[in-house]
Amino acid sequence: MTKKPDWLQNPWKQNPWFESVAVAQQRARKRLPAPVYGALVAGSERGQTIDDNQRAFTEIQFAPHVAGHQAERAMATTVMGQDVSLPVLISPTGVQAVHPDGEVAVARAAASRGTVMGLSNFASKSVEEVCAVNDRTFFQMYWTGQRDVMVQRMERAHAAGAKGLIATLDWSFSMGRDWGSPEIPEKVDLKTMVRMAPQVATKPRWLWEFGRTGQIPDLRAPNLAPPDGGEAPTFFGAYYEWMTTTPPTWDDVDWMRETWAQISGGRPFMLKGVCRVDDAKRAVDAGVAAISVSNHGGNNLDGTPATIRVLHPIAEAVGDQVEVLMDGGIRRGSDVVKALALGARAVMIGRAYLWGLAANGEEGVGNVLDVLRSGIDSALLGLGLSSIDQLTPDVVEVPEGFMRPLGVPART
Ligand SMILES: Cc1cc2nc3c(=O)[nH]c(=O)nc-3n(C[C@H](O)[C@H](O)[C@H](O)COP(=O)(O)O)c2cc1C
Repeated sequence: MTKKPDWLQNPWKQNPWFESVAVAQQRARKRLPAPVYGALVAGSERGQTIDDNQRAFTEIQFAPHVAGHQAERAMATTVMGQDVSLPVLISPTGVQAVHPDGEVAVARAAASRGTVMGLSNFASKSVEEVCAVNDRTFFQMYWTGQRDVMVQRMERAHAAGAKGLIATLDWSFSMGRDWGSPEIPEKVDLKTMVRMAPQVATKPRWLWEFGRTGQIPDLRAPNLAPPDGGEAPTFFGAYYEWMTTTPPTWDDVDWMRETWAQISGGRPFMLKGVCRVDDAKRAVDAGVAAISVSNHGGNNLDGTPATIRVLHPIAEAVGDQVEVLMDGGIRRGSDVVKALALGARAVMIGRAYLWGLAANGEEGVGNVLDVLRSGIDSALLGLGLSSIDQLTPDVVEVPEGFMRPLGVPART
């Protein structure tokens, strides 16, 4: 008997591990020591923005068709010149201590699902290791250190094979969280392990993952190591350099894009963290290839609206000049479809894949991407569309007053 094609298999069997990102999050919470889980949830101050990022998606509704659905649905696209098999990319995050394979596992899963890996300069794995397993890697940099140091870091990322640069400039060093910040040790040595033992002793699966590889969580940032072979800074060393760097001007954005173009032979540059129409226009003037409409997942300036609320005015203003991505609050395929309907070319995910990584390593990240893919497909089916290219604001019901057009001169 011939084997049934994959698409005719029992659909519930496709995801034996978890069927939604929420389930992955529940497993992550069970598996991770409280400070590690807390560092992933993060959010800043009152948590207003992190909450709104997810809640706002629930205010947008669909108008599905009852018949006339399409048998084939396409969701492949390109982002900054890279083919992606679904409109979902990995947003850069520093994932120290979540899993021993860290960003290498994330990059492998992204490669196996045909998408781009965004690698943070604060990551626990080197750009060389990550580019070796995913040749569609974009390297992300904060504005940190002297210009000559930034040049060295760009040169290193280019030599490793990074296909694009993401500059993340939205950070305001907010310190207070109403639910208390998790403790992150300076480094993990024997003394720290003994002190934190009660918090990790109840997490056998997490301990086993690290024990199996003979590693202890490495809280260093190898991509910020000096070029002479010196030691990589600790997370706090790296954070200190960042805090003490004079904040960037728009001229610095020009310089960064231009410098990356010179080093890389014109590879694309994305500005991440745009929330306002006027900033989006300035980013166009600075010659960026793409922007990500982002509020850093609610970790930056609390009180900023959900990114899905600010997306459409920005996409309307600059969508024909640069690629507009968005990130923040994406937890299901239908969220991706809503973002695309409001003008995003693709989205980037943060916590969704971190939950997958914590729950089940590389396979867990692949599982999250599969959950999103299947959710996008199912929303397209319900809407009677055959491609993400047909997504327009007409396919969603957006309540009055939902949008927040920031940085638009007030009409008199
Ligand atoms: C734990 C954590 C670490 C992050 N680290 C970085 C980083 O190093 N660089 C960066 O550009 N963004 C960073 N971000 C922001 C993400 O790239 C992304 O903008 C955000 O997570 C999207 O929101 P979501 O988590 O709701 O998907 C981080 C986010 C989290 C949750």
